[in-house]
Amino acid sequence: MTPTATAGHAGHADHGPLLTVRGLARSIGLRKLFAIDTLVIPRATAIVMTGMNGAGKTTLLRMLAGLEPAPGAVAQWTDAQGHAHSAALTPLPPALRRRIAYLHQHPYLFRTSVRENIAYGLRARGLPRHDIDLRVGEALGWAGVSHLQDTAPEYLSGGEIQRVALARAKVLEPELLLLDEPTSSLDGHAREQVIALVGDLAAEGRTVVMICHDRELINLPGVVRWKLGDGVLDTHHP
Ligand SMILES: Nc1ncnc2c1ncn2[C@@H]1O[C@H](COP(=O)(O)OP(=O)(O)OP(=O)(O)O)[C@@H](O)[C@H]1O
Ligand SMILES: [Mg+2]
Repeated sequence: MTPTATAGHAGHADHGPLLTVRGLARSIGLRKLFAIDTLVIPRATAIVMTGMNGAGKTTLLRMLAGLEPAPGAVAQWTDAQGHAHSAALTPLPPALRRRIAYLHQHPYLFRTSVRENIAYGLRARGLPRHDIDLRVGEALGWAGVSHLQDTAPEYLSGGEIQRVALARAKVLEPELLLLDEPTSSLDGHAREQVIALVGDLAAEGRTVVMICHDRELINLPGVVRWKLGDGVLDTHHP
């Protein structure tokens, strides 16, 4: 449950918000799903997004993750040196790609092993093998799945899959985690374990935006509430 030694605090509180996106809009045919003038995503904040089925929550998160086109949307951010940047959100600028992780509601795991799934992103970044082993070991322990490291993903329970997917995201040390209903298919202990991991990520100084209807997550201490409805995102929802 404790932040790992290598997990950098997402920091830079003096450099303004983590990310500002202007002109984030989506229409489906003639139907306007949402149009958001300015979306400010703060640093080191846990945010829950609620809204009716079909309001566009998943679409909004996927646009922020660069997984769906966001024509006309402009992203603004400040790097670790304090330099301001501005670029089209689509295609997602490489500097942001490294800082953002998205978790699908039903995460897809490669049909290798749990360990390989968690190591994948670090390998893609070309980290030395020793560093990969160390960080994967820490992530496995953090998510409580060390005993499953050699298991093939098809044998995992829903809760185990969510924890492996969270570990796979966390190991890349993103500043912004976008989670689509991380507890929706879970109950009992599995749900509580995932809620604890999400709380950890926020406590480490990362920003977590999660779509959710889970009262317990919505009531995590210090959580900010966003509500998407009628094409508008209310970022000061009580
Ligand atoms: N590629 C697409 N083509 C056509 N319609 C789409 C597409 N993607 C999303 N939609 C529609 O856009 C609307 C918003 O979908 P989205 O999945 O973002 O909603 P949501 O708020 O996440 O809903 P839920 O709570 O059910 O998950 C839905 O009516 C959906 O059918
Ligand atoms: Mg959805």
